[in-house]
Amino acid sequence: MSASIRPQERKANDGIARAAERRRSIRNYASAAIPEAELRDLLRLAGRAPSAYNVQPWRFVVVQTPELKQKLSAAAYGQQQILRAPATIVMYSDMLNALERMPESVHPDLPADKQQAAVDSFRAMFAAQSSEDRENWGVGQSNIALGYLLLLAEAKGFGTSPMLGFEPEKVKELLGLPAHVRVPALISIGYPGEEGFRPHRLPSETLVEFR
Ligand SMILES: Cc1cc2nc3c(=O)[nH]c(=O)nc-3n(C[C@H](O)[C@H](O)[C@H](O)COP(=O)(O)O)c2cc1C
Repeated sequence: MSASIRPQERKANDGIARAAERRRSIRNYASAAIPEAELRDLLRLAGRAPSAYNVQPWRFVVVQTPELKQKLSAAAYGQQQILRAPATIVMYSDMLNALERMPESVHPDLPADKQQAAVDSFRAMFAAQSSEDRENWGVGQSNIALGYLLLLAEAKGFGTSPMLGFEPEKVKELLGLPAHVRVPALISIGYPGEEGFRPHRLPSETLVEFR
């Protein structure tokens, strides 16, 4: 079991580091579609993201049909990458559904009374909150999965364009999503058809301090 491996004996795996160095937004794509099984695997792995209380509020709708892509692009101020990409993932966050499904999210290896206690304490935490606060909190958790998704896509050789430039109410209406859910991002995805801009970031040493 990995728990018995001492930290210094863990094998370094720099695949994630390389994907982080390489990744950039890609807004043009080859015409080939990504096979559905690949997309399913990508979204399964994105769902390996950790979340507080293991709540997992992220949900995904993969938009592929030309008609829906047209409408989604219109709801995203005409952003062209939605039309160019073979698929655009609409990531939404649904805390109401996540709260209902807490008994499934809680770890099955916990003793039954501890499972129930975890469900109760999690639900109690949100009982007094407004739907807006609750769903905002869920967006924070969902963004962890967004980061996973973008890195995993890079590692698998796909190009992605994350987007916040869209009208959430129009996107929700288009897909028939419930009013309370939030949409943390749209993510166009395909095989890269361009290099993208070279990565440009604030120097890390200006953002990090050790005390
Ligand atoms: C949550 C999020 C929302 C974004 N929204 C848009 C968008 O609506 N349209 C767009 O062209 N790029 C969008 N971007 C891309 C950013 O501009 C880009 O990630 C940033 O400039 C860094 O460049 P890079 O992704 O190539 O590393 C978004 C990125 C993120 C993470």
